[in-house]
Amino acid sequence: MTTDIHFNKQDFGADFSWGVATAAYQIEGAVDVDGRGPCVWDKFATIKGKIKNGDDARIACDFYNRFESDIELIHALGFKEFRFSISWSRILPKGYGEVNEAGILFYNKLIDKCLSLDIVPWITLYHWDLPQALEDLGGWKNRRILEWFESYATICANAFGDRVKKWIVLNEPMAVAGLGYTTGLHAPGRKSISNFLPVVHHLAMCQAIGGEVIRRNVADAYIGTAISCSYVHPASASFRDIRAAKRADALMNRLFIEPALGMGYPADAFRFLGNIKRYMQPGDAERLKFDFDFIGIQNYFSVVVKHSYFAPVVWLKEVPAKLRNVPVTAMGWEVSSDGMYHILKQFDAYDGIREIIVSENGAAFHDQVEGENVHDPERKSFYQEYLAAILKAKNEGVKVKGYLAWTMMDNFEWAEGYAARFGLVHVDFKTQKRTVKDSGKWFASFLKM
Ligand code: NOJ
Repeated sequence: MTTDIHFNKQDFGADFSWGVATAAYQIEGAVDVDGRGPCVWDKFATIKGKIKNGDDARIACDFYNRFESDIELIHALGFKEFRFSISWSRILPKGYGEVNEAGILFYNKLIDKCLSLDIVPWITLYHWDLPQALEDLGGWKNRRILEWFESYATICANAFGDRVKKWIVLNEPMAVAGLGYTTGLHAPGRKSISNFLPVVHHLAMCQAIGGEVIRRNVADAYIGTAISCSYVHPASASFRDIRAAKRADALMNRLFIEPALGMGYPADAFRFLGNIKRYMQPGDAERLKFDFDFIGIQNYFSVVVKHSYFAPVVWLKEVPAKLRNVPVTAMGWEVSSDGMYHILKQFDAYDGIREIIVSENGAAFHDQVEGENVHDPERKSFYQEYLAAILKAKNEGVKVKGYLAWTMMDNFEWAEGYAARFGLVHVDFKTQKRTVKDSGKWFASFLKM
């Protein structure tokens, strides 16, 4: 099965981390049990038309009740690391204040299960499920989120830091600012360009604050934050398209890493970002910096952009992959392992980045379910091509130290509901039956080599 690739696991080195990544809201279900408070996605999912097919995540993969067998499955596949996120409103039902001990207990059991199987746990502190109670107070637009987040992070660091050493502060903050508060396609569904800059600034501040909190409270922690990124090509060599590509690059790739590195926001490429100063207070420029041990990069596709007069503020438009005659996934995203190679090089070029973890990568395709088998040849090729690109970058000196596949099993894919399947393991959402897909079998055989 592996004869069609020209590399093996050993080529990545014995110290390379191999794992799978997940997120609380996408898998846990059990949204109203054991004292959990509602989060923004619970409310968003009740609004007609927001989630494809009217889906919601009340049950999702029922991971809350099935975590033990799911972690055993991760172990059986040969992954040695497991990234999951903490549901803020399970720990603090109102977002701040009183701690829900049942929430702490759940994650303690989950962590202990990982450790009993020699699986290294990775915690993501924030993967998009803001407590609704905080959203009611303005959510990420309210600067008080800095205190709320600091106290939540402190509680998690103290509760889990004795056993969990690998921490990711925020997951893809650009999605929160862009989809959650500007286009409204994600929860909380707020739609205004005037939200963008304050939300970005508060996220970037929390990125650093979370890092500090973990450093202070967790001995021997390995701390990072996860950034969505896409290699950007201009649609043509025209001055306008190149300028549009630079703006897109500032937004998609530079916006959260550069302030963390002490470089400020990338207003050089996109003047609008200079207005973020209005939301900054004395001392913020300094507080935005954090010396992360690693940066998690999450690359799925590349983008081609061109200048557009019809898109005020950004003045750019993406040329959709389907118009470019390139292979696409079920999400319509371009399959481009070359883009992974280039974006790794781009991030590696920052002096301040010490190590890179590919903290998510994977693809949705239309799988063929045939009895006990699930055929997904495209996903298998996707993994093979992207891993080859990562290895190429690594062999050229890029400091990439680990790979977490997105994702272990099919789950609630946000606004796409259950329609988009990214798993190495198929989930029948009626019966909760798990079936390892061909890609999962391939990955397992690769990990055994
Ligand atoms: C990135 C997000 O972190 C994750 O939650 C999502 O499911 C994948 N991308 C795929 O869209």
